[in-house]
Amino acid sequence: MNDTFLKACRGEKTDYTPIWMMRQAGRYLPEYQKVRANFTFLELCKTPELCVEVTLQPVDILGVDAAILFSDILIPMEAMGAPLYFHEGRGPIFPEPVRTREALDRLIVPDPELHTGFVMETIRLLRKELKVPLIGFSGAPFTLATYLIEGGSSKVFWETKKMMFTQPDLFHSLMEKITACTSLYLQAQARAGAQALQIFDSWAGVLAPCDFEEFALPYVQKIISDLKATGLPIIYFANNGATLLELSVQSGADVLGLDWRIDIGDAVKVVGNRAVQGNIDPFALMLPKDKLRQRIGNLLHGARNAHGHIFNLGHGIHQFTPPDQAKIAIDAVHELSANHKYR
Ligand code: CP3
Repeated sequence: MNDTFLKACRGEKTDYTPIWMMRQAGRYLPEYQKVRANFTFLELCKTPELCVEVTLQPVDILGVDAAILFSDILIPMEAMGAPLYFHEGRGPIFPEPVRTREALDRLIVPDPELHTGFVMETIRLLRKELKVPLIGFSGAPFTLATYLIEGGSSKVFWETKKMMFTQPDLFHSLMEKITACTSLYLQAQARAGAQALQIFDSWAGVLAPCDFEEFALPYVQKIISDLKATGLPIIYFANNGATLLELSVQSGADVLGLDWRIDIGDAVKVVGNRAVQGNIDPFALMLPKDKLRQRIGNLLHGARNAHGHIFNLGHGIHQFTPPDQAKIAIDAVHELSANHKYR
């Protein structure tokens, strides 16, 4: 069992810096495309044997140090009773957005084994196969709320912020229900065998710090405090969150995920004795090999004082990235971090 990733999460010394990549199982891999060609994305997410196959692909092909469960942050939102489909090109769509008390009251807090048993089954199957740790995950309540309220992806978040500012009670009630669902969902993943848990706050960065503190952070804190009893390392990734980093530390997470907009050395000073995860610009994977290796060396050096560093991209790998470029980066992280010149 390669436990380098778990050691780094706990701030323990490692022989080299572990790496995995957000969205490492996905469309940039021809092997994923081949499986996906026969199923819709949701069919794939709901078939444990297929989820296992695509979760293992980046581990086998690229040699990453952790696997992340193949699923989607919106799966438990569908289980709450919000109809969901994925549109090729437009992404996720909730055709019945949640914008009223009546719509909120119709949502349930699902039993994770009963309503999303396929996720737990995937985790149980994966643990029999994997030689690297398995990361389970969820969305953060604010990010999940944006999808439910907007009815899908958004750029300006008009409906979300309108509810926050004109009907704060309704917004907080929705956040409470999503939080209850997410907390149970992650606890079930821990029981099924997940070895670390990441909470994705993809849209936290659209909030002013005061609004993040009032409308988003308390719910992340609640989930993380509920998870303490599992003993698993918790990673909180607030995308575009450099301006929220000091507040994000108060989430209680063991590891702070960083996007590429912040210098990792600056981030290390803010997070104190917590580990950091990140944070190369996903598009920098397109650099020529020598420049890419140089950038990775600089990043490793920048993180040398971290209380644990897990190398990752600053966000998901782009779907047109050649897998060979990802492999160059992974090999470079392993090789350069084993050399004391960099760490
Ligand atoms: O490898 C992994 O990272 C594990 C699997 C994973 C997926 N989605 C698979 C996926 C994870 C961890 C997610 C998280 C997720 N899903 C997030 C948070 C991370 C982030 O990117 O900020 C969000 C916001 C979603 C919601 C979502 N799912 C969107 C907006 C989209 C469409 C966007 C797009 O790129 O088309 C998805 C679809 C999705 N989720 C795909 C994959 C592999 C592409 C589906 C396909 O095969 O067509």
